Amino acid sequence: MFKGVLFDLDGVITDTAEYHYLAWKKLADDLDISIDRQFNEKLKGVSREDSLRLILEHGGREKDFSETEFNQLAKSKNDNYVEMIQAVSPKDVYPGILELLKALKNADIKISLASASKNGPFLLKQMELTDYFDGIADPAAVRAGKPAPDIFILAAEVVGLAPNECIGIEDAQAGISAIKASGAFPVGVGSAKQLGDDIAIVASTAELTLNFLEKQWSN
Ligand code: BG6
Ligand code: MG
Repeated sequence: MFKGVLFDLDGVITDTAEYHYLAWKKLADDLDISIDRQFNEKLKGVSREDSLRLILEHGGREKDFSETEFNQLAKSKNDNYVEMIQAVSPKDVYPGILELLKALKNADIKISLASASKNGPFLLKQMELTDYFDGIADPAAVRAGKPAPDIFILAAEVVGLAPNECIGIEDAQAGISAIKASGAFPVGVGSAKQLGDDIAIVASTAELTLNFLEKQWSN
């Protein structure tokens, strides 16, 4: 039986993946770079700086900005995003997530956050979920972001586990790659088309029950 679950946040616990997209879209529009939802699949799970790099490359503008300007662009995206998430509340927690957190707690299974977002702790607080988490991996403390395994390895470590004792839950291509590389067991939220047909996938978080996770783990 697994001993821990490593949760991504944006797009797994709540719909903030959409806000990230809207904030990047606005920034890209301001720079005359066109991005769409298909391109956005490559940004999901990816750190703020790496996302900005991908967008600038996509628009052929990667050489147009000094380091100071680059940091200013990243800050302006984040300021916009932070404004959007002020209203996030317990009502915004995705279906089934609260029940799953409670069931994991009852079963003494560790719960850890493996989000690339520096806004993760704030969002957990807004959704009143902080107390369910036994640990939070600080994305500022890892050398390489998703798809590198570092954040999942750290998320397991902060709750005293090895990745191969844990399930990782992700909605992003980069995140699934990161889970696989860490040695944890991947479960995807989304579609096989986006995340691959070689892993367990749910279309909705409502399907993420303890029973479902146990079944996937023992298969
Ligand atoms: C990930 C999101 O969880 O966090 C990405 O999927 C985002 O879209 C990344 O870029 C970093 O988030 P933040 O809040 O630190 O800019
Ligand atoms: Mg995500």
